[in-house]
Amino acid sequence: MRNVTTDNITETFVSYFGEDTDPRILEIMRSLAKHLHEFAKETELTHEEWNKGLEFLRWAGRITDDKRDEFVLLSDVLGLSSLVDMVHSSPEATSSSVLGPFHISNAPPRDKGADLGAGYEGEIILVEGVIKDTQGQPIAGATIDIWQTAPNGLYSSQDPDQDIYSFHALFTSDENGRYGFTTVRPVSYTVPTDGPVGDILKATGRHPWRPSHLHYIVKADGYRDLVTEVFPDDDPYLDQDTVFGVRSDLVMTYIKQSAESFPDTGYELSGKVNEPYSKVDFDIVLVKAH
Ligand code: BEZ
Ligand code: FE
Repeated sequence: MRNVTTDNITETFVSYFGEDTDPRILEIMRSLAKHLHEFAKETELTHEEWNKGLEFLRWAGRITDDKRDEFVLLSDVLGLSSLVDMVHSSPEATSSSVLGPFHISNAPPRDKGADLGAGYEGEIILVEGVIKDTQGQPIAGATIDIWQTAPNGLYSSQDPDQDIYSFHALFTSDENGRYGFTTVRPVSYTVPTDGPVGDILKATGRHPWRPSHLHYIVKADGYRDLVTEVFPDDDPYLDQDTVFGVRSDLVMTYIKQSAESFPDTGYELSGKVNEPYSKVDFDIVLVKAH
């Protein structure tokens, strides 16, 4: 094209593609270019603003390493991570929610009833539920990968004072599809704000808080993996999660219980709980893989 204009640049861009371009790559690149070009035209983006955007990306690149990914955080605060989740969430299954950057592979396998909160102060929560299919049939042998912040609001990978696997565990559902464990109630916390993403939050008058949550990855043979979270219904940030992760079926009431009602057997803490605790029931529905 010898005369590229604001009107033909998007189709010109696509016309330069090779004939054997993979059709999905073509679809994605055409749509990306269309919206990017439209964005520049609609906002009449100035050179200065465009340069600021490039500097933003350079900073994000500099700050990203194997412990911190500023690009994932950018996708999270823009709502893109959650949109990708929602577009692929099955209406029959438990909603999926953001993975976030703090998952650690190879969490230690723990038996049903284990306690994740050993040595930490805070309210004990007893979390139980059933992993089931869309017909309500229990799924035995599902793996449930759990991770959360310590009561100081930090994940183990952010906190040199924690063991790397602290507040991480891998459970397996029993023959009735049940899982259960105790832990210390996680707290609301802020996403990192000392990088370029923090500047976006500041520039748009947004706070960096996420409501308290427990992260789950649930996997079972023949079913789609589910990445999700559970939130308490009394958290002040439920309606303004900075990464848009809240779905109503993931919000549970943490029901206060007396110490005496704690199960006598089946839990690592059985016989050791002397204070009121909270009970969280969170069942999870998986859909068949296709
Ligand atoms: C998290 O829940 O761990 C998280 C999610 C998105 C951005 C930062 C943290
Ligand atoms: Fe989190």
